[in-house]
Amino acid sequence: MRVLITGGAGFIGSHYARQLLGGAYPEFADAEVVVLDKLTYAGNRANLSTVADDPRLRFVQGDICDAALVGELMRGVDVVVHFAAESHVDRSILGASDFVLTNVVGTDTLLQAALAAEVGKFVHVSTDEVYGSIDEGSWPEEHPLEPNSPYSAAKAGSDLLARAYFRTHGLPVCVTRCSNNYGPYQFPEKMLPLFITNLLDGKQVPLYGDGGNVRDWLHVTDHCRGIQLVAESGRPGEMYNIGGGTELTNRELTERLLTELGADASMVRPVADRKGHDRRYSVDHAKISAELGYRPTVDFDEGLAGTIRWYRENRAWWEPLKPGALVTG
Ligand SMILES: NC(=O)c1ccc[n+]([C@@H]2O[C@H](COP(=O)([O-])OP(=O)(O)OC[C@H]3O[C@@H](n4cnc5c(N)ncnc54)[C@H](O)[C@@H]3O)[C@@H](O)[C@H]2O)c1
Repeated sequence: MRVLITGGAGFIGSHYARQLLGGAYPEFADAEVVVLDKLTYAGNRANLSTVADDPRLRFVQGDICDAALVGELMRGVDVVVHFAAESHVDRSILGASDFVLTNVVGTDTLLQAALAAEVGKFVHVSTDEVYGSIDEGSWPEEHPLEPNSPYSAAKAGSDLLARAYFRTHGLPVCVTRCSNNYGPYQFPEKMLPLFITNLLDGKQVPLYGDGGNVRDWLHVTDHCRGIQLVAESGRPGEMYNIGGGTELTNRELTERLLTELGADASMVRPVADRKGHDRRYSVDHAKISAELGYRPTVDFDEGLAGTIRWYRENRAWWEPLKPGALVTG
């Protein structure tokens, strides 16, 4: 079996690759893995260092928009797990072109090549942000897509292309939509690693607006296990939400971090709210639970403590990345 992982040098894709090669997914125990990654600012070979010597891993630096390369790599592939994307909302507010290119055109390039190569399963990793913002309750998969940022609009475009390749061509595509991931190896401009690394350095953390925006937190290990369930047994043409079950306002999360890292409220720097800032995300993951037996298993307190410990112990990983991090406000 051969698995093509796009974006496998990023935060979530590298976790999936490390888990797979480490034997966490018995159904894929003997799989050969091809990682295709452009190594943008968010991609990092160091994220794969623990599996770099595994003879089953082949790393290819390249762009998912490169049709010739993608076509060549797709030959003989059984399963595609597509993580590659421009993923930071704040960057999409400054300029959306790269988001449209990678997230929409790149996904289309992969879908076309997967169709030609007759791959057995294509898992398109998407986001809860495609649904927009919800004040109460949780979104089921049938909810209309109402993306509000250029990032989520580009992701929604790629979701619709994935659906269309199933409807039009019968390509066995599944789409997963997850909530906010956390864990080790996340680029230190996303909220959680930015705040942890700032506090480790004795620096203030920038909190958007009134801090009342609500996010559901999902440990990257649970997310990748959900993706794996979909890769193995998801029904072609279906969408699956993957949630973590821990909703917190950004202020509540910040207070948890201050406590864990021995800092006080003076370390919080309120900044003007993000443009178009979605107030609340909440996915209903009843479908993947009922159909595929998914449930989040990482306790949030333990997951957060482990994540903080990882950043504390891996300064050599994140310190060189901090100058490239986009910090607004
Ligand atoms: N991080 C989250 O909380 C979260 C939440 C919901 C959905 N997602 C989705 O999960 C996926 C992975 O997210 P992440 O947080 O690991 O992102 P990331 O930004 O950490 O990693 C993205 C990876 O894709 C690579 N890449 C970017 N453009 C490319 C291109 N044109 N060709 C090849 N490779 C390219 C980058 O080099 C990087 O390694 C994304 O599709 C994202 O939309 C993430």
